[in-house]
Amino acid sequence: MTFESLFQKYRKTEPKSFYVLKIFVLILLLISLFGYTLLIILDIYKDNPIIQSSLVEENSIPVPVVSMASNIQQIGISCRFVNASGAHDCKQYISYNNSNSIGYFSSKFLAKDLIYSSIPNNGIKSLEFKFYLNDTRYNLSDQLTLPNFIFKMYDPVDSNKFFEAFELPTYIMFPLTIVRLNDYILATYSSYKIKIQRRRKEILLPRLENILGFSTKLESIPYITSTLETSPLLNDTEFPTLLAKITIEAQVFVVQIETDKRTKTVLNSLGLIGGAWGFATTIYTILFGATALKPWGFIQKHGFKIKNSVQKKLKHTLELIPLVHYPESSNNLNNYELKKRLDALQQFLTEYVVDMQYLEEIYKTNINKKGI
Ligand SMILES: *[C@@H]1O[C@H](CO)[C@@H](O)[C@H](O)[C@H]1NC(C)=O
Ligand SMILES: *[C@@H]1O[C@H](CO)[C@@H](O)[C@H](O)[C@H]1NC(C)=O
Ligand SMILES: *[C@@H]1O[C@H](CO)[C@@H](O)[C@H](O)[C@H]1NC(C)=O
Ligand SMILES: *[C@@H]1O[C@H](CO)[C@@H](O)[C@H](O)[C@H]1NC(C)=O
Ligand SMILES: *[C@@H]1O[C@H](CO)[C@@H](O)[C@H](O)[C@H]1NC(C)=O
Repeated sequence: MTFESLFQKYRKTEPKSFYVLKIFVLILLLISLFGYTLLIILDIYKDNPIIQSSLVEENSIPVPVVSMASNIQQIGISCRFVNASGAHDCKQYISYNNSNSIGYFSSKFLAKDLIYSSIPNNGIKSLEFKFYLNDTRYNLSDQLTLPNFIFKMYDPVDSNKFFEAFELPTYIMFPLTIVRLNDYILATYSSYKIKIQRRRKEILLPRLENILGFSTKLESIPYITSTLETSPLLNDTEFPTLLAKITIEAQVFVVQIETDKRTKTVLNSLGLIGGAWGFATTIYTILFGATALKPWGFIQKHGFKIKNSVQKKLKHTLELIPLVHYPESSNNLNNYELKKRLDALQQFLTEYVVDMQYLEEIYKTNINKKGI
């Protein structure tokens, strides 16, 4: 049923009060439909994405950026990584902050070319830092002045990269969160083993195609999480004044991906509106019955050039246009004219109103029987 046919003409054979009731119910149904559509639009507008979690196996994890600080200045750091060809020094990746005015030690490890790899020969297996006293005059047995360390790790995402997602109100604190996710304050005289794991957050950007539901535009933000194990520190011959040892390894190469998903998009809400429209139409039909058949659609009525040829053909075949063609006077109707009118009516009915297939089958079987 099309919208147009809802506002059908007032039938002369129906009482006027019935027509008024029909229009009233129709308006009620239309208001409900409109309200429902409005609700759905509001729902789409207010929809918050849900998070879908999935796992993906990756070959490598970039070595995290490590930031190390201590409350005393006399700290030395040694750095080693182990790959397939053995242990190698990595002092060159450590940069020290020499603004010593605050009496504070801080340094940063940044190795863009190092990765943990699940494929041997392709990357490193473990990374190790040793903290030792660079000043033997420091009183190690004084419990009160024992230093502690601040040890932070984060994913080496290109710091020049602009993440649009961080501008969204929901994710404005996210960069801080992921940078602080692996902050440790470590005591001295312990050995630590840190196992890292990579995660990826896929954030839905506020784009039209995301709301429409045709495709999804996501921004991928990797970050790492870690677990820490501790054990007593053993004496080290190389560093007699060793304070702490930290080893960083990759735990698994399975990356957990958290993807934002919209549950309501324009595309999947169209079905709901269509369903409601169908439901309203059914109610209307149950209450007031079906409307007249409309064998002509938009193309026949308004189609460029088609309209003319359709009308011409109809007029040519039927000669008299049935149902609307009345003779001037019904008294002096001759047989010939009556037959023409009947023929036109029959042809019109068979072609536009009644599906003839079933009747034709009956007719054909009868002819066949007679023929035998
Ligand atoms: C150890 O201390 C000396 C002198 O204070 C300094 O020159 C050297 O760079 C320090 N070494 C480390 C690894 O911090
Ligand atoms: C060094 O430390 C000071 C004080 O904490 C800080 O303002 C500065 O940005 C640091 N520089 C580097 C290169 O990390
Ligand atoms: C191990 O690391 C060293 C130093 O970076 C490098 O020269 C060597 O090729 C690496 N070995 C393997 C098997 O990757
Ligand atoms: C080191 O600290 C301990 C405990 O506070 C103290 O007894 C000792 O005299 C100190 N040694 C030096 C060389 O300062
Ligand atoms: C480590 O060295 C210290 C001082 O040299 C010594 O007192 C201690 O017994 C040693 N510990 C072990 C486990 O060898």
